[in-house]
Amino acid sequence: MSADIIDGKAFAAKVREKVATHVARLKEENGITPGLAVVLVGEDPASQVYVRSKGKLTTEVGMNSIEHKLGADTSEADLLSLIAQLNADPAVHGILVQLPLPDHLNEDLVINSIEPAKDVDGFHISNVGLLGTGQKSMVPCTPLGCLMLLRDYHGSLSGMNAVVIGRSNIVGKPMANLLLGDSCTVTIAHSRTQDLQDVVRGADIVVAAVGRPEMVTGDWIKPGATVIDVGINRIPNGEKTKLVGDVDFASASQVAGAITPVPGGVGPMTIACLLANTVTACCRANG
Ligand code: GUN
Repeated sequence: MSADIIDGKAFAAKVREKVATHVARLKEENGITPGLAVVLVGEDPASQVYVRSKGKLTTEVGMNSIEHKLGADTSEADLLSLIAQLNADPAVHGILVQLPLPDHLNEDLVINSIEPAKDVDGFHISNVGLLGTGQKSMVPCTPLGCLMLLRDYHGSLSGMNAVVIGRSNIVGKPMANLLLGDSCTVTIAHSRTQDLQDVVRGADIVVAAVGRPEMVTGDWIKPGATVIDVGINRIPNGEKTKLVGDVDFASASQVAGAITPVPGGVGPMTIACLLANTVTACCRANG
């Protein structure tokens, strides 16, 4: 059997098109252009690539992109002061501080200084609490993207057994909350889970977010299950490198009913959802 490929790249392009239409309407009918501020501290190469890509796609959908690039030695006081300024700026509807931050900066303190209504990452403790209690919140972009792909493929997820592998605050925990909100029976598995393969074999939906290249192989997957691969791992490939997920695509795609590829699966959905969250923040701010 060969799995259906869930094309996240194509789906993300459709989400961005919808965002662009919404942005055009906000401009025409309300004279408002949504603005997304992205703050990058330091020179982490992967973060620089992400930030460049976010800026490009933000302007492509017609929104204002406001970039603040700060030196790696920026003090916590200076970073908090910039965030306070962005919080107070009515032209800024979304604020994203790219993670990870340099070690001398307290990530929790910085994230929790962002105005919750502008927290388009959904990482502020208020948004985490709202999501955990099933209330309207800003939803973290990667799990939101995964949920959109799952809903598009299955329609209703009600009653399905979902196993999320990984318990991070950015993906694993919010993903579990979202699946619970869609009436799945949810298990969060992690590095200490006993008999992990057996746990995964019980799943109708597997979301792999562990950061270990090709860890989940076909023999872990229940025939016909849907596999969402959040991993983005760069591994050696001869003289060069290649991107792989947390799932061994070759073997898993022989067993699964549907699977997201890497690249071209979850990755493009993350930025598309960031843009959608920024429009949502802008609409909520303007009634
Ligand atoms: N670094 C890696 N992923 C993310 C993300 O989704 N948001 C932010 N702010 N930083 C990240």
